[in-house]
Amino acid sequence: MATLLHIDTSFNGENSHSRAVTAAFRKAWEAEHPEGTVIYRDLAAEPVPHLEAAAYYAGGTDPAFALRAELIEEAERADVILLGAPMYNYTIPSTLKAWLDHVFLVGRTSITENPSLAGKRAVVVTSRGGSYREGTPQHGNDYVENYLRLALGDMFGLDVSFITPELTLAPYVPAMAGLVPLFESSRTESLAAAESLAKELAVQLAA
Ligand SMILES: Cc1cc2nc3c(=O)[nH]c(=O)nc-3n(C[C@H](O)[C@H](O)[C@H](O)COP(=O)(O)O)c2cc1C
Repeated sequence: MATLLHIDTSFNGENSHSRAVTAAFRKAWEAEHPEGTVIYRDLAAEPVPHLEAAAYYAGGTDPAFALRAELIEEAERADVILLGAPMYNYTIPSTLKAWLDHVFLVGRTSITENPSLAGKRAVVVTSRGGSYREGTPQHGNDYVENYLRLALGDMFGLDVSFITPELTLAPYVPAMAGLVPLFESSRTESLAAAESLAKELAVQLAA
């Protein structure tokens, strides 16, 4: 039975673009896996605490390790990990960083011959107010995608795909008014990409 770990981090609730796209992925995923399981975490509503020394150095049955064990096991149970990761000040929300700090465990999820999450698919929806594409003035300043490629891809061994709804501030910022059509097409393309990727991953998992 397929399991999806779905994590949202935007604090924008119903106005969130990343949440709209993760929801589109999840809806398509659930249609493909009616008997499947979805584990959901909303890190904006219920953030995990910052990692502290007691939890970092604890292990096994130590109570200080309990939350880390829970978060790691959720990720290990998942066939696919779906992350909403809006760009906040050029990088990921601190709530997502806190989750990563808990899940990174030397000898289990990383820095070992067979990291426990290796080979799983991850889908990251990284909404942003501007655009960081090649040819734009902000190209090179996106510390979401390059960081998550490193953290999820190199550190955990996940196979990561990105969906990027961009220019989301265009409807609100007068200086960006001319970019509204590009924002609208990015939103439409992101929703469609989420749906088709969910279906594609379902086929791959069934194979
Ligand atoms: C705290 C904060 C910091 C932000 N920093 C950036 C930024 O560095 N670059 C950018 O393009 N947009 C930035 N934005 C805009 C968001 O990336 C944009 O509103 C995006 O749509 C947020 O994702 P969401 O719609 O899922 O909430 C920021 C927004 C907030 C709230």
